[in-house]
Amino acid sequence: MNGFPVGILGTGMYAPERRLTNQELETMVETSDEWIVSRTGIRERRIAAPEQATSDLAYEASLKALAAAGISADQLDLIIVATITPDMFFPSTACILQEKLGAKKAAAFDLSAACSGFIYGLANAAGFIATGAYQYALVVGADCLSRITDYTDRNTCILFGDGAGAAVLGRVPEGRGFRSFELGADGSGGELLNIRGGGSRLPASEKTIAERNHYIYMNGREVFKFAVRVMGNAAEEALRKAGLGKEDIDLLVPHQANIRIIQSALERLNLPEDKCLINVDRYGNMSAASIPVALAEAVEEGHVREGDRLVLVGFGGGLTWGASVLVW
Ligand code: ACO
Repeated sequence: MNGFPVGILGTGMYAPERRLTNQELETMVETSDEWIVSRTGIRERRIAAPEQATSDLAYEASLKALAAAGISADQLDLIIVATITPDMFFPSTACILQEKLGAKKAAAFDLSAACSGFIYGLANAAGFIATGAYQYALVVGADCLSRITDYTDRNTCILFGDGAGAAVLGRVPEGRGFRSFELGADGSGGELLNIRGGGSRLPASEKTIAERNHYIYMNGREVFKFAVRVMGNAAEEALRKAGLGKEDIDLLVPHQANIRIIQSALERLNLPEDKCLINVDRYGNMSAASIPVALAEAVEEGHVREGDRLVLVGFGGGLTWGASVLVW
């Protein structure tokens, strides 16, 4: 990366209290704990309380990230919220969060790149800081997927959960921080994973509701194949750009969609499981929140030491993918 060295100064995460277990899902759709665990690795996921929206989850995670960074909200120059479940169409969830935090001087916008959104957000914020335009940025990945999940569709409802993760970015000493970003998209795969209704193409109507077009549609098998391919490719490309090899990775922080996708990435990168943060069993897929929640847990649990080389990698609807190499 050119410009001033930029890194993560503090992380934070928040997951709602309510747990939705596989056993409970067995009472809702034709499925079994055995099927879900063997095909996905998921045992439970968190569900936001009725009065909680995405900005509320984002707010809790942001407070922790700001405290960890030792930065107050009014020092922030920029807030980016990566989400596919904004509180509402507009104003952006980032603007709602800006007001909640009292981050008066921060510019604020949302970013839509589904599960890759947090890495897209990091790349954006790092660019602003590397050029000297901004000093501190808050990047949040937050999603309430339970609000767009069809709990009569066993193909999808077992996968998703709610949560938020946040990171404060700023300048770091030379040799530390982000070394590379690899972002990509393939719009031709947009039909594999989407919400068809409620936008300008198919505005919300009684018909769209009756046809359940306001819920996530997913072709799981095709998304799985795509994920296995791009996770390895993106991580390897980010390493190449950083001038590092697979053997240099101290910790992999992957998107948490399915344990089998994570395992295939580990195989491709020749990494043992203990060099990877895995929490998909406890949270399921939280879309943009998965990577920052995993990162915040890795930091909290002491899995990240100064000088460690981390690879963050994810994929999602769009289709999109993203990876980053950073030195902690
Ligand atoms: N319980 C029991 N059986 C089920 C369930 C369930 N919950 N869901 C599907 N099945 C059945 C299917 O109907 C199918 O039956 P059939 O063969 O009679 O048609 C059978 O199980 C096998 O289905 P597959 O789709 O082949 O199962 P697979 O092993 O591929 O696992 C899964 C499905 C878990 C969805 C997997 O494909 C996957 O993880 N895909 C990737 C999903 C993903 O990562 N999405 C991320 C993006 S999310 C975002 O961006 C917001």
